[in-house]
Amino acid sequence: MPPVLEVRDVEFSYPDGTRALQSLSLGFARGRRTALLGRNGAGKSTLFALLNGIERPGRGEVHFDGAPVAYDRGSLRQLRRSVGVVFQDPDTQLFSASIREDISFGPVNLGLPRGEIQQRVEAALAAVGLTALAERPTHALSYGEKKRACIAGVLAMDPRVLILDEPTAGLDPPMAAELMILLNALHERGITVILATHDVDFAFAWADDLCVLQEGTLAFHAAADDFSAVAEHFPGLGLELPWVYEVFGELWRKGAIDGETPPRTRAELLARLR
Ligand SMILES: Nc1ncnc2c1ncn2[C@@H]1O[C@H](COP(=O)(O)OP(=O)(O)O)[C@@H](O)[C@H]1O
Ligand SMILES: [Mg+2]
Repeated sequence: MPPVLEVRDVEFSYPDGTRALQSLSLGFARGRRTALLGRNGAGKSTLFALLNGIERPGRGEVHFDGAPVAYDRGSLRQLRRSVGVVFQDPDTQLFSASIREDISFGPVNLGLPRGEIQQRVEAALAAVGLTALAERPTHALSYGEKKRACIAGVLAMDPRVLILDEPTAGLDPPMAAELMILLNALHERGITVILATHDVDFAFAWADDLCVLQEGTLAFHAAADDFSAVAEHFPGLGLELPWVYEVFGELWRKGAIDGETPPRTRAELLARLR
C-alpha cells in the first residue's frame, strides 16, 4: 500500500530556534492504524501540525496522496478537509455554544447544502454516541464527552485520514476501551487512523504499525506483528514494554505458553493460557 501521507527528509524549527524535527522521513500507509510513540518533546505534535499544513517544514516535503502539499489557501483547505486532526486539549478545539453547533461548523464552512450538513452532523453525533447530548452546551460536558465531540467535529468533514493527538490521555480504562471500538469502526469504514499516545498497551493492542520518534527523528517504524524484532529498543527510547508482551515472554521462557506470535491483548493472552 502506498502512503497516503508522507514526510520526506523534513526539518522543522520553531521561531524561537527550537529544532523539533530533523531528517525525518516517514510514510503512513493507506487504511492502516498507526500509533506514534515517543517521549515528551519527541516531535509528535509538531509532526501532526505538518501533516495537515498548520506548520510548514523548513526543509523537505510533506506529501498527501502522492503529491507534495501546496501552501496556497485553496490547497490547504483541501488538505484539511481530507486530513482531520483532533488536538490533545478539547477546550482549544470546541468553541461553539452547543455540541450540534460545534459539529456543524466545519460542514457549514464548506458551504454544503443544508440537508447534507444535517445528515453529516447526525452521523457524526451517532458515531461518537453523543446524539442524546446534541443540544448540550460544550462547557457542560465531561472531559471524555468533550473529546468525543472533538472527534465528531472532525468526522463531519468526512476526512480520509484521522489524526488524534494523545486521545487516551485523561480517559479512564472503560473510556479508552470505548475509544478503541470507535477508532476501529472508523478504520473499518476505510479511514486511515494515526494517533500519538503514551499508552504502550493501547498502542500494542490497537495499532497495525508502531512508530517511535526520538528527539525529532525516527527511531523505528514497524508492524505490531513484528514487535519482537524491535522490542529490545524500547527501554533505550524511554518506553516501557506492553505488559501483555512482557508477561507472554516470561511465560514462554518458562514453557508455560505455546506459540511464537505474542498475543496483543489481555483477552488474547488469557485465551492462550486456557
Ligand atoms: N510553540 C513552540 N515553540 C517552541 N518550541 C516548541 C513549541 N512547541 C513545541 N516545541 C518544542 O518542539 C519539540 C517537539 O515538541 P512536540 O512536537 O510538542 O513533542 P511531543 O508532541 O512529542 O511531546 C520540543 O522540544 C518542544 O519543546
Ligand atoms: Mg504532543
